[in-house]
Amino acid sequence: MTKSNPQPSFLAAALLTWYPRHHRDLPWRHTRDPYAIWLSEVILQQTRVAQGLPYYETFLAAYPTVQALAAAPEAEVLRYWQGLGYYSRARNMHHTAQQVVSDHNGRFPTTYAGLLQLRGVGPYTAAAIASFAFDEAVAVLDGNVYRVLARVFGLHSDIAAPSSRKEFQALADQHIPAATPADFNQAIMEFGALQCTPAKPDCLFCPLQQQCWAFQHGQVALLPVKSKAKASRTRYFHYFVLRHGEQTYLRERREKDIWQGLYDFALAETTVPELPPAELLRHLNALGASLDTSQAAEPSATYRHVLSHQKLEARFHPLALAQPLPAATLRDLGLRAYSAAEIEALPKPKLIDNYCNQNL
Ligand code: ADE
Ligand code: SF4
Repeated sequence: MTKSNPQPSFLAAALLTWYPRHHRDLPWRHTRDPYAIWLSEVILQQTRVAQGLPYYETFLAAYPTVQALAAAPEAEVLRYWQGLGYYSRARNMHHTAQQVVSDHNGRFPTTYAGLLQLRGVGPYTAAAIASFAFDEAVAVLDGNVYRVLARVFGLHSDIAAPSSRKEFQALADQHIPAATPADFNQAIMEFGALQCTPAKPDCLFCPLQQQCWAFQHGQVALLPVKSKAKASRTRYFHYFVLRHGEQTYLRERREKDIWQGLYDFALAETTVPELPPAELLRHLNALGASLDTSQAAEPSATYRHVLSHQKLEARFHPLALAQPLPAATLRDLGLRAYSAAEIEALPKPKLIDNYCNQNL
């Protein structure tokens, strides 16, 4: 997609000297397998290296090839992803693995343009795979890269605005060397992660200090320009933890909003913290539940969970049943009774997993 600048770039020269002396030894830097690179980049998109590393190792051990991932059940894939968040990434990967196997003979497209055709593969991931696996000179743009470029070149465009991408991409593509695009991409991301950090970048010992616009103009702390994300809303979840004997009722979430494909309990949602008693009764009636009032238990403390655009506050109402739930309820709400061992194997949101570990 790009023609690299024929003149040697000061940026490339500095980064390629810096990188071998400072980079971290990370497992995905020792492979040219597009599948493993893809996995690492999807994990690292919303996750810190320290948190993502064990997931990378475990996932790759469970599914060493794109064929293995394609053949796995979705719930199992989500169970391996449990705790990483942004579960649509895992569902997209699973779908894309099947697409690679069925439409591409199990081999990844080998170009940036070809990779972009895959579901869930955007410009960032396509550039990472194309450069790391196939040596195509197309620059990656992630938060680290935006920051380094904005500071070094004094770019004041809002990096949260989609229209800025073209400008930054063109600049990065001018500087990526045709001979070593993979090293340049790793280097500029690593430089942003370790040297030119968001707060307190190490400008005093920086090889780019002389050329860095932000440093020379005393504007390091002002760059990059990034508009604030819109305020997040709070949602209140009231979970009914229905139990009969040693069995607990859960359901697979079908809602498209969050946690699709993961398991939670029967749920009432409100926009204010309290569920009015009349509402609670209405929900219990709708469940057709015959409660065992001799085992009445208090609702749980509030479990809080912060997502990228919403805050969740959940309370759990443990409800012992005198009889199993009626078949019609199970069908209408998608509920099913599970033993503790079965629940452990289901993919669950972190918040549900925490509750189960402490209470079931
Ligand atoms: N973040 C995103 N991609 C990365 C990579 N390849 N190495 C380290 N951190 C990353
Ligand atoms: Fe980043 Fe500071 Fe180096 Fe400029 S001088 S590239 S702001 S670390």
